Order: sequence, then structure tokens, then C-alpha cells
Amino acid sequence: MSQQSSCLLTVLDLVPFGQTGQDSRFFALRLTRPDWDGWRPGQFVMVRPVSFGLEIPWARPFGICHMTARHLICFFQVQGKGTQRMAALREGDKVRVWGPLGNGFAVEPETPTLLLAGGMGIAPFVGYVNQHPKPWNVAMLFGHREPLSCYPVDSINEHVPLDSLRETEPGDLDNLIFTLQERIRDNAEQKGLVLACGPLPFLKTVRRFALEYGARCQLSLENRMACGVGACLGCVTRTTETWPVPAKRGGLVQTCNHGPIFWADQIEL
Ligand SMILES: Cc1cc2nc3c(=O)[nH]c(=O)nc-3n(C[C@H](O)[C@H](O)[C@H](O)COP(=O)(O)OP(=O)(O)OC[C@H]3O[C@@H](n4cnc5c(N)ncnc54)[C@H](O)[C@@H]3O)c2cc1C
Ligand code: FES
Repeated sequence: MSQQSSCLLTVLDLVPFGQTGQDSRFFALRLTRPDWDGWRPGQFVMVRPVSFGLEIPWARPFGICHMTARHLICFFQVQGKGTQRMAALREGDKVRVWGPLGNGFAVEPETPTLLLAGGMGIAPFVGYVNQHPKPWNVAMLFGHREPLSCYPVDSINEHVPLDSLRETEPGDLDNLIFTLQERIRDNAEQKGLVLACGPLPFLKTVRRFALEYGARCQLSLENRMACGVGACLGCVTRTTETWPVPAKRGGLVQTCNHGPIFWADQIEL
């Protein structure tokens, strides 16, 4: 596992996706590369711009969207005051970043791998498909509410086939659920691997079908986090009877340092 560190990084740029101008809500934040010796897709960072000052004491967690030899990229959506403040970052601003944190998604080069992304859950899969040694064994299904231009789909599409389903009216949700069911069932029949990241209702649906069809499935959780390193107990998840450590079965574990990625049958949602 890579050594974690806290680095003061510099903003290279902040690129809006979808609607631009005052109303932008989706951004790729490109920072100078931290001095880590490695990282795994699915890991995350705690981000705290210097501009948070005394008003916003806690860092915010974001999946590592991608990392190259020169930079670290996070992709975020404006939700509240922290991400609003991040949307005002400019080239040259300083940001403290702790990472790489948590575990990563399983990578099994020869296994048919189905990526299921809901909304901003697409972010960690950019790094995943970029690093996968045999991307022709990977496919993605993407459910989203906002226009496709709001998300980094081009960075996925150049590596693996991506089917997207946009939800704009009530019937679209039924279609997404039906498609999830079919794709998870097919993957289970091929003895494949399902990896999912997205909002809680999306993950609950994926988990239900994965358990029903016996699919091998990992879920990336986005519980609210404060410390990101297992100290505050603010992010806990309940385990099931299949959790690998007998003493913790049916108990609570920190999502930040036992996850954020869990096998679907080992946690309750
Ligand atoms: C491991 C992990 C990885 C994440 N990766 C990404 C990512 O790649 N891109 C991205 O845009 N977001 C990601 N998130 C969610 C992101 O951390 C929150 O959106 C952010 O912390 C909100 O901060 P804020 O100050 O703007 O909002 P706050 O003012 O703290 O809250 C505003 C609203 O956002 C909601 N909110 C806060 N935290 C979360 C959360 N964790 N999940 C869902 N809703 C939340 C609150 O309930 C509230 O309604 C991730 C979260 C975790 C735990
Ligand atoms: S965020 Fe503090 S224990 Fe997980």
C-alpha cells in the first residue's frame, strides 16, 4: 500500500463541465502531482484549500479521478459551502491534500468487468479504465440526471464502451433499474466482476441485484467524512456475517479506512 502524506499542492486549472459561467456546478480540478510513490483507482483524498481559512475547518473527501506523472485530478460537483469555495479556486492557489486514502477497486485483467456509475460516481472510473491492463474486458453503464456534457465521459469512452441512461422523467428510473438488473445478471452468468460507485439509492439497487444473482460486486461508499483516517468514527458502515474479521461481524467499521470500497455481501446499506 502507498505511503499516505499531506502535501500542499498548487492549482493548475479548474475546468468547468456542462454549463459554464456563474452557474457552473461541475468541475475538473487539476493540481500539481503529490509526491506519492503510487495510488490505486478507487482511493480518495481529503482536500482543504487554504482559502477555507477558519470558516471551514474540515477537509472534504473526493475520489481520485486520475493521476499522471505531472498532475492529480479530482472531479467535483458543487453541493454546499466547501465545494462552492472550491469552485472559486484559480491557477496558483494552494490546496492541502491528504492521501492516497482508503483501499482501491479490484483489478482482474482477464475477468469481464462491469462498471456501474451513478452521477458523480463516474469520477473514480476515469482512473480505473486508464490503468486497466486489458480495457477490452471492461464495459460501463452510466446513469445520470444532468446532461452528459457535465461529466468526464470522453475520458472513459476512449478506453471502454459506455452506455448512458439519462433520467429526466419518472419512467426513466424504471428503465435504469431494469437495465442494471439485466447487466448484473449477465455479468454474474459470465462469472465476472461488478464495480459500482454512485449515490446510496443507486448502490442499494446494485447490491440487491448482485446478491440476488450471486454477482461478485464491490461498492464504493460516499459516507460523510471528517477526518478521513479512522479517528473520528463519523463515517461508519455496518458489516454482515460474511465480514472477514469474526469479531467485527454485524458491527460498525469506519468507511474511510476499511473502505471506501466494500464487497456487496460484507456490508449492510
Ligand atoms: C470517499 C468519497 C469520495 C467522494 N468523491 C467525490 C467525487 O469524486 N466528486 C464529488 O463531487 N463528490 C465526491 N464525494 C462527495 C463530496 O465529499 C461531498 O459532496 C462534499 O464533501 C460536500 O462538501 P460541501 O462542503 O460542498 O457540502 P456540505 O455543506 O458539507 O453539505 C452540502 C450538501 O451536500 C451533502 N453531502 C455532503 N457530503 C456528502 C457526501 N459524502 N455524499 C453525498 N452528499 C453529501 C450534504 O448532505 C448536504 O446536503 C465523495 C465523498 C466520499 C466520502
Ligand atoms: S472520517 Fe473520521 S473515522 Fe472515517
